Amino acid sequence: MSGTGGFVITVDGPAASGKGTVASRLGALYGLPVLDSGLLYRAVGVMLQRAGADLDDAAAAEALARRLSAADLEDPAFRTRGAGEAASRVAVHGAVRAALLDLQRRFAGQAGGAVLDGRDMGTVICPQAPAKLYVTATPEVRAERRRRQLEAQGETVSAAEVLEDIRRRDARDAGREAAPMRPAADAVLLDTSEMTIEQAADAARRIVEAARARWEGSRHG
Ligand code: C5P
Repeated sequence: MSGTGGFVITVDGPAASGKGTVASRLGALYGLPVLDSGLLYRAVGVMLQRAGADLDDAAAAEALARRLSAADLEDPAFRTRGAGEAASRVAVHGAVRAALLDLQRRFAGQAGGAVLDGRDMGTVICPQAPAKLYVTATPEVRAERRRRQLEAQGETVSAAEVLEDIRRRDARDAGREAAPMRPAADAVLLDTSEMTIEQAADAARRIVEAARARWEGSRHG
């Protein structure tokens, strides 16, 4: 596992906090593969809807999650507003989370290390990761970022509607029983509300550099 393996960085936090950008920048900087775990839940939600099943149907969602493969994750339909909502509805099912556990732990356990982006990476998937970040921003800032992202993808939604989506999704993700969204006790909080992408990436790099120095020290010391 990653405790004895490569350098693992977990990046958790709510939607549109900047964690995806931070995770991909860290991946590029350290030459580590990046897992966007939200995409797994998005794929399960969208594929379940396509199959005509209900998002509350835990057994159908679990069956789909068990069959999920990396090749399923390429679909641009998983990036839409509706897909985010569907993802958060299937993510409440403990059986779905359990079905996706092995895939995520295998990714984390790669010899060279990995960057894991999600909600429960530092708390459940890889609690022994040497570098943990929890990226946040105010709901208003996140809503505006997400609105712009959606607009760039051709989905025009008002700021008020996106803010409502964000608040609903935050409440569901943080309030669920199975692996709720929360910072690990040893995660470093990074509030990107007032930061540009460059500033957020730079702050993340400094946090990870400090964690990496400690990790290297513990391996050689
Ligand atoms: O990060 P993203 O917005 O793509 O995630 C979509 C949804 O998937 C989240 O709102 C959350 O409900 C769920 N999710 C999760 N655990 C993760 C990643 C995402 O429950 N590790």
